[in-house]
Amino acid sequence: MARKGIILAGGSGTRLYPLTLATSKQLMPVYDKPMIYYPLATLMDAGIREVLVITTPRDNEAFKNLLGDGKKWGMRIEYKVQEKPNGLAEAFIIGEEFIGNDNVVLILGDNLFYGESLKEILERSNARTEESTIFGYHVDDPRRYGVVEIDESGKAVSIEEKPEEPKSEYAVPGLYFYTNDVVRIAKTITPSERGELEITSVNEEYMKAKKLHVEKLGRGIAWFDTGTHDALIETTQFVQTIEKRQGMQICCPDEIAFENGWISSEELKQLAEPFMKTNYGKFLKRLADGEI
Ligand code: G1P
Repeated sequence: MARKGIILAGGSGTRLYPLTLATSKQLMPVYDKPMIYYPLATLMDAGIREVLVITTPRDNEAFKNLLGDGKKWGMRIEYKVQEKPNGLAEAFIIGEEFIGNDNVVLILGDNLFYGESLKEILERSNARTEESTIFGYHVDDPRRYGVVEIDESGKAVSIEEKPEEPKSEYAVPGLYFYTNDVVRIAKTITPSERGELEITSVNEEYMKAKKLHVEKLGRGIAWFDTGTHDALIETTQFVQTIEKRQGMQICCPDEIAFENGWISSEELKQLAEPFMKTNYGKFLKRLADGEI
């Protein structure tokens, strides 16, 4: 069974005001790329070739201008609108037709993942087709996130959304691999006190059914959610530091499309051409020429 990908790039981005008064949070720059490139690259690293981008009504056109139909990367990218910020789990209701009979992975448009072992973890999660997978990441302040408590065998014992008193220090990042029944489950949950269909409620259902696998993302992996001014600049600095030091790219869709064999070196060269004034373009050119 194939797996499809959804990037949720809705929301009003109020924690980034006034930056987001006229444009989408997920189009903000994270060093040298628009924010949405990062989650898109993560899906591509998982081997996902069909992606649905869900946006606000205002910003839908801008995302289409940026990413197009995906053909340039050997992919298929579709678009839908979330009319109001009704919660993350609404993505599966909006995406019902797109998902069809396949399994699905949801990634939040403001989440960035990076690390040597990540691709392996993503591929493993993609291959786990009989149960759903979420992740646990050790953070300093878990109260800002969904929090998962994990027992010794690696099973989830409890999951809570932004708890006052967290039962563990493991936050649940915005990356979720679900079996196809997530569409049905998303339709059965009720909105939380903040009026949203919470992804945490979906995860609780899987936990109760003993169909939820939790993978810990170790300290060698970087996870950022870039939804505040400080987080945005910190993530930018992280990407800049690594890219300048290594002369390579973090979360570069063009590179991954090529590495995955979805485009040829000739096609990669064409993609690089308009970018040649930037290190991004020069990197792609070296890659296409076999120098990296
Ligand atoms: C959402 C989820 C939360 C998760 C977080 C990750 O929170 O509700 O469980 O830990 O994303 O970025 P939000 O950023 O929408 O407040």
